[in-house]
Amino acid sequence: MLKGERVELRPIKENDLKNFLKWFNDMEVTRYLISYLPMTEASEKKWIEETTAKREPVFVIETRNKKGHATAIGACGLHRVNHKDGNAEMGITIGEKIFWGQGFGFETLTLLIDYGFNFLNLHKISSGSYEPNKGSIKLHQKLGFVQEGKRKEHAFSNGQYLDLIEFGLLREEWKESK
Ligand SMILES: CC(C)(COP(=O)(O)OP(=O)(O)OC[C@H]1O[C@@H](n2cnc3c(N)ncnc32)[C@H](O)[C@@H]1OP(=O)(O)O)[C@@H](O)C(=O)NCCC(=O)NCCS
Repeated sequence: MLKGERVELRPIKENDLKNFLKWFNDMEVTRYLISYLPMTEASEKKWIEETTAKREPVFVIETRNKKGHATAIGACGLHRVNHKDGNAEMGITIGEKIFWGQGFGFETLTLLIDYGFNFLNLHKISSGSYEPNKGSIKLHQKLGFVQEGKRKEHAFSNGQYLDLIEFGLLREEWKESK
């Protein structure tokens, strides 16, 4: 469990399935994600089982109200962790849209990146944002990610081809930015 001021990151539980189905079937949420086909209960269950079996560091993002009641608002994780090269790929989805634009993404990724560098002993974290995803680009820049490249017209979404901005963050850069 990773604890911040307003968010906690915890492992996935069996009853998270309904939230995942809601989030990953919302086309406003998935618009700039790799996941684009309708998410069935069976496929989501399989993804959760496989992720759990692989023991990938994937977390559900929770926030508590004043009465202490926890609400799951999204998920995040470090994927394809490569222990030889010390790198991984970061992902985040805040599926509850009313929580967008309030700093939850920044706090979540700060906890996740700290965990990646200080507990998993990573050397580098990679990530990417599609060009129109202004919130995601700003979030990466705010966290200190450096743009390493741009894959032109790399994906198709909602009637247009999108450029993919590739980001990287080294442990030293993270330490310096803090
Ligand atoms: C992208 C996402 C993770 C951002 O999380 P968030 O909690 O809304 O972001 P934050 O509130 O922490 O914002 C970080 C910065 O980006 C800015 N920002 C957020 N949304 C923005 C938007 N739509 N347009 C412009 N700037 C935006 C914020 O103002 C903030 O900058 P500031 O501190 O200088 O004001 C969230 O919107 C999301 O999960 N979207 C759906 C899935 C997705 O696209 N995931 C990312 C894949 S790479």
